[in-house]
Amino acid sequence: MESVVSRLLGMPRAFVPVVPKPLPPDTSLRVYHSADRECCLAIYSENEPGHFPPGFSDVFEQTLDRPDYLKLVLNVQGRLAAVGAIGLFPRMIGLQNVWLAFGMVRPDVHGQGLGTALLLARLAALPEPKLPMKVLLSNVARSESFLERFGFEYQGQMPGLAGGPMLDVRAALLDRGSWQRCREIVGGLGFAPQEIPATQVVDFWAVPPPVRQSGPPS
Ligand SMILES: CC(C)(COP(=O)(O)OP(=O)(O)OC[C@H]1O[C@@H](n2cnc3c(N)ncnc32)[C@H](O)[C@@H]1OP(=O)(O)O)[C@@H](O)C(=O)NCCC(=O)NCCS
Repeated sequence: MESVVSRLLGMPRAFVPVVPKPLPPDTSLRVYHSADRECCLAIYSENEPGHFPPGFSDVFEQTLDRPDYLKLVLNVQGRLAAVGAIGLFPRMIGLQNVWLAFGMVRPDVHGQGLGTALLLARLAALPEPKLPMKVLLSNVARSESFLERFGFEYQGQMPGLAGGPMLDVRAALLDRGSWQRCREIVGGLGFAPQEIPATQVVDFWAVPPPVRQSGPPS
């Protein structure tokens, strides 16, 4: 009954805080900084075939360069192993929307819990939800089964790029209890959620900065 009512109201299913498998030894979490840019682009390129549509890397670079998306990275034994972004969207009518963007893991360390840990860490960086928040993402086909474990449910499609291929959009509802559970799990992994800077509101109307040419980080 509850799920029928939720569907009628356009509400997604509840987010499921999945506990990741034990992470590789010497895994640490921190905020992205510009010196990570080249490593992140390398992780993107390694994942691009079969995952991301051609030309989508510009959107990734813009997301890296925008100060209004919080980016978190995981390092394994001092080497960057995963990156992911999150942003709050200005509240208009209805629920607070949150977008998760470009969660990706270095292919040689796929399947070791890092993608799950990074997803939970980004949600743990949200302000405490007084009301449930709608967590959205646009996903590529090969990450569907990964995302379904968290309750992310198909909502429709949107273009990944202006005039580019359509990507599926999925959503799940994060309430205070599941947000707290994310923080507990992240804390249990040895990361301190209270040290992660709070996710900001994305300036929806901002013109994205021009994509910088690849080169040594400034
Ligand atoms: C999707 C992705 C972030 C998952 O990260 P990960 O560290 O490999 O995932 P985890 O180890 O935390 O969890 C993997 C679990 O999800 C499932 N899974 C589903 N799709 C998967 C995939 N493409 N790769 C790895 N695991 C996948 C596995 O069954 C695994 O379950 P298990 O723990 O029972 O073995 C990673 O595979 C990736 O970077 N993919 C390429 C980029 C991408 O598609 N990003 C998502 C954009 S929406």
